[in-house]
This record gives sequence, structure tokens and C-alpha cells, in this order.
Amino acid sequence: MVELSSDQLKQAVGRAALAYVEPGQIVGVGTGTTVAHFITGLGEMRDPIPGAAPSSERSTAALAAVGIPVLTANEVERLSVYVDGTDEIDPKGYLIKGGGAALTREKIVASLADRFVCIAEEYKSVPVLGDFKLPVEVIPEAAAAIARRFASGLQGTSGTAVLRRNADGTPLITDNGQHILDINGLKITDPLAFESAVNDWPGVVTVGVFAHQKASIALLGAPDGIRTVEF
Ligand code: 5RP
Repeated sequence: MVELSSDQLKQAVGRAALAYVEPGQIVGVGTGTTVAHFITGLGEMRDPIPGAAPSSERSTAALAAVGIPVLTANEVERLSVYVDGTDEIDPKGYLIKGGGAALTREKIVASLADRFVCIAEEYKSVPVLGDFKLPVEVIPEAAAAIARRFASGLQGTSGTAVLRRNADGTPLITDNGQHILDINGLKITDPLAFESAVNDWPGVVTVGVFAHQKASIALLGAPDGIRTVEF
């Protein structure tokens, strides 16, 4: 068996997701290196889509570069499909997302879609969410208080928060002008309750658990092919 590189697996699932795009329909587009392959494929479709609603400035630029008209989330009422990557996926299709810091807009666009097609390498499939550091977008003024809440471990949310920084040491600023805390040491056994609880904390913009906006379908790339899972 020929060993496929990580990028080849991403390309395979990114291209496979094109089969879920409905002709004539606007598509919701996520963010990341896997989605980048999906965007390339969208640009090459024989029947071009009328437009796409992206979840980040990065995907906005990538869509524009392949000639696809871009709409904001405010300009679409409903989407038939949203395609995005993930950092972890559990057996029920619950996700941890936000490794690329785009979680808030990703959740907004996902919430507009009838189906969320999640594309990822199979190793991201885990029994319980939490090995990947959970991204939480926060209002900067609330970062210390939110970090203390995680440290105190209330409501099964015990973890250590680290402010995400750029290579030059400055705090990373999201597309929405906010900060990201990455939370280590979690074991998220009840993603629905966890997401609701953390979203309630003052200053939390979005928690990177996607349980209320979980995947409908996952296309998981492995060396022996793509596994399709429906939730
Ligand atoms: C961005 C995300 C991405 O979907 C996630 O980080 C996976 O990215 P990649 O496809 O590059 O592995 O949530 O905020």
C-alpha cells in the first residue's frame, strides 16, 4: 500500500466533500488546511456555485482567489450544506474546533446549514473529546476570570488555560478582535452540557465544543480510503 501524506489525505476528503454540494446552492465554507482543498475543488467545478458563505477572512480570500462570489452570514438565511474541518470528533459527531482561531464564525455559519459535512484525517476521531487543547474565544478583559473558572474546575470543566500568542509573543487577535484561551487537561464526557455551561460564562464569545452544532456526516481520511460516518 502506498503511504499517503497528511496533505494527500486532506486533499482526498476535501475533494470528496464536493459530492455534497448541491447545484445552484450557496455553500457554507469553514476554515483550515483541509478546507483549503475543498475551496480549490469548488473553484474547479464544471457548474460553478452561485456563491459561498465563509467562516473567516482567510477563507474569504481563498474563495475570492478562485473566483467564487462571497456572501456574509448576514446575507444568507439558510444553507443546504456547511463543509468544515475539525480538531477532534467523537463517536456522536461532537467536535472540538478552533485550532485555526475561526470558531465563532464557524459556529455561526454551521448554525445556518441543514447539514454539516465534517472533513478530517481519521486520527482526529477520538472516544472522548479533550486531548486537543480546547479553544475558547474570549473578550480580552474577561480572560483572567475565565482562566480562573477553568482552574477551579466547576461543572466538570477543570483545565489549565493558556492565552494563544503569535510567533512574536503578542496575543493572537481573532477576526472578531478578541483573544483565544486554549484549555489543557479536559475530558469532555457530556459535550452538550459542557458547551452550554461554558457559553454562559461572562466574557466567553464562543467555546470550541460543537455539540449543539455537531457534524451530520464525517468524511474521515485514512491510508486505506475514506470512511463516511453519518450521525
Ligand atoms: C479552524 C478549525 C479547523 O477546522 C481545524 O483547526 C482543523 O484544521 P485543519 O484542517 O487545518 O487541520 O476549527 O478554526
